[in-house]
Order: sequence, then structure tokens, then C-alpha cells
Amino acid sequence: MKHKILVTGGVGYIGSHTTVELINAGYEVVIIDNLSNSNINVLDGIEKITGVRPAFVEGDCTSIETLRKVFTEYKGIDGIINFAASKAVGESVEKPLLYYRNNLLTLINLLDLMPEFGVKGIVFSSSCTVYGEPDENPVTEKAPIKPATSPYGNTKQVSEEIITDYIHSGVNIKSILLRYFNPVGAHPSSEIGELPNGVPNNLIPYLTQTAIGIRKELSVFGNDYDTPDGSCIRDFIDVVDLAKAHVVAMERMLEDKSEERLEVFNLGTGNGLSVLQLIDVFEKSTGVKVPHKIVGRRAGDIEKVWANPEKANNVLGWKAETPIEETMRNAWNWQMKLRERGIM
Ligand code: NAD
Ligand code: UFG
Repeated sequence: MKHKILVTGGVGYIGSHTTVELINAGYEVVIIDNLSNSNINVLDGIEKITGVRPAFVEGDCTSIETLRKVFTEYKGIDGIINFAASKAVGESVEKPLLYYRNNLLTLINLLDLMPEFGVKGIVFSSSCTVYGEPDENPVTEKAPIKPATSPYGNTKQVSEEIITDYIHSGVNIKSILLRYFNPVGAHPSSEIGELPNGVPNNLIPYLTQTAIGIRKELSVFGNDYDTPDGSCIRDFIDVVDLAKAHVVAMERMLEDKSEERLEVFNLGTGNGLSVLQLIDVFEKSTGVKVPHKIVGRRAGDIEKVWANPEKANNVLGWKAETPIEETMRNAWNWQMKLRERGIM
């Protein structure tokens, strides 16, 4: 029998790509999303790619009654992937309670209902933000957790602690915490991708919007960091590669491939690229110029962080495979598709 998976936030950027990979791997997917940061049309994209329209509930995970109804209606949910969260770092500084309420209540409700409905495992979307400015790169899962620099970052740290404490209490569930580095790109079909609201905060959507002429120029935040070209270094991971890791993680829990009840994995490529290098890769792989200028540093930015993904490579048997040039072309094709559809 096919396993049934509840994907919270499955209409969003990473959730939609993961839904595609789950369906491709033969899972049955039920999505709950309140559409606070996504558009219902994404379901059409998922259907175009996979030929399957996942079950969809428009609902808010901060309501335990709503979630209880979902588990009751869709009997036999075996696993959860919890993407539903608010994720804008700057907004979290202005509206901390919104972030604590949304991100933590969602998680607590899901954990609370798992034993009642016999749900075996939960995959949680964490972030390399928990490492802060790491003492050394590449970062392994054993690197110290640094004090969070934003309420958003803190919700990820506290969420990891909540899951850890709950599992230590002896409850009969499993969990895998996935610490994403910088997810970028779009599905190669250009049917789904990243669709930020308003002016993007993140590098790639700002870059592709500049390349297509929506923004005048991309500001590079700082060229005086202690890095070879002075700009910050990140580990940019293709969103489809990232999505595939969730399928492997889910399978690991549901098929008891590990004795461990709680595991943590870094999801990155293992390669650090600077902001200026990435602009160069984009220009060379698409043939499109990105007007940009150097401006001052952005408050709160990490200077350099990239993953040691060996644990995920060896234990999960997962590896990031997509060359960054291809990821950049996919991001660009997605931006052009949005233009074609008159969305941007
Ligand atoms: P996203 O905003 O595109 O997707 C999140 C989805 O959850 C959206 O569709 C939104 O409508 C939905 N949602 C939010 N609150 C909800 C609620 N209370 N009930 C139901 N639905 C709700 O974000 P994303 O980039 O796909 O990120 C997914 C997860 O990965 C988040 O937990 C995020 O914090 C984490 N993460 C993202 C990144 C990144 O760079 N994108 C990096 C590290 C971790
Ligand atoms: N950058 C620019 N110009 C821009 C946007 C970004 O130069 O217009 C630079 C930033 O200064 C940074 C790099 O590009 O050096 C990457 O910035 P992003 O905002 O794209 O990503 P961050 O690494 O700051 O953070 C992202 C998510 C966090 C998440 C983290 C780790 O926003 O939520 O990745 O997964 F926690």
C-alpha cells in the first residue's frame, strides 16, 4: 500500500517541489496550506508535472481542530513533512509574536496529534541559520548552535528543541531534522518555482527580477568581508535536489531503516559560492546580464557558511547533483515563464 503523507505548507516553494518528488516516488500526498504565502494555482503546476492532483485542504495549522479534522478525514496518514511556517527574517523582527505563534503552534499541534492518529514520523524544515556564523567551514551537524539573530531563526532553534524534548519523553514517534543551506532554482519544467510576495529579500528572486527588468539593479550587500572577493559565501542548493532528500528521509523513518528516533542532516552541496561568483555563473549560463552595484553590508548577514553534507551523503544516500549552472538556468526559465503568464 502507498504511504500517505501530510505535507503542511505544500503549496509553498519547497513544499510544492517536495510534493512532486513524493508523488513521483509513489506516495499519496495530502496538503494543508492556508495560502498565506502561496497561490492555489501551484496545484495545477504539480498536476501538470506528475499527472496527479494532490488532496488539498485550505486550512491553518495553528488550529488543532482543523488539523484533527484533516487526520480524521484522511485516515491512515503515516508521515508528516512540516513546511508550514512564516520565513521572512526582517518581518520576524517587527512581528515576533506572529512568528512564534505561527511556527511553534503549528509544530506543537502536529506533534500533539501524531500519537493519537498513529503517525509514525515527522520531517522538519530547519535551517543552517542555527549555526550562526560558524567557527569553521564546511559545517558539520556537530557544529555548535549559536544564539539566534532573529525571532525567525529562534523559531527554528526552539522547534528543534521541542521535537528533541518530545522524543526524549518516550513518545512513540520518529523525526528527522533537515537543516537546509540556501535553496534556489525551480523545477526544470518551469511549472513550479519560487513566487515571493512583493520586493524579494533573497538573492536569487531579486537577481532574476533584475535580469528581466522588474528591478533596476541588484544591490550586492558588502564587498569587504573576509572572503576571496569580499562578498558573502553561501551553499546554494537546488530545490529539486533538496526536495528529493525529503523523500529519502521519509522512507528512512517509515521503513525503520534506522534505530534512531531523532536524526539531523545538513542539506547542502558542500561548495561555497560567493554572491559575486553566483552573479557571474548566472550571467555565463544564461547569457543575460545582471546590472548590479556594491552597497553596504546588510545587518545580520553571516559572512560565510557552507555545508559538510557527508552525513546526508553517506547515511541517507542522498547527494546534491544538479550543477549550479543548470539551477541558474531553471531559475531564469521560471522567471520568464512568470512573465509569459503575465504574473510578473
Ligand atoms: P514558503 O513560504 O514558500 O512556504 C510555506 C508555506 O506554508 C506557504 O505556502 C504558506 O502559505 C504556508 N503556511 C504558512 N503558515 C501556515 C499555517 N499556519 N498553516 C498552513 N499553511 C501555512 O516557504 P519555503 O521557502 O517553501 O519554506 C518552507 C520551509 O522551509 C519553512 O519552514 C522555512 O522556514 C524553511 N526554510 C526555508 C528556507 C528558504 O531559504 N526558503 C531555508 C531554510 C528553511
Ligand atoms: N544578497 C545580496 N543582495 C540581495 C539579497 C541578498 O547581496 O538583494 C546577499 C546577502 O547579503 C547574502 C546572500 O546574498 O550574503 C544570500 O542572501 P539571502 O537573503 O538569499 O539568504 P540568507 O543566506 O541571508 O538566508 C536564507 C534565508 C533564511 C535561511 C538561510 C539559511 O532567507 O531564512 O538562507 O537557510 F535561514
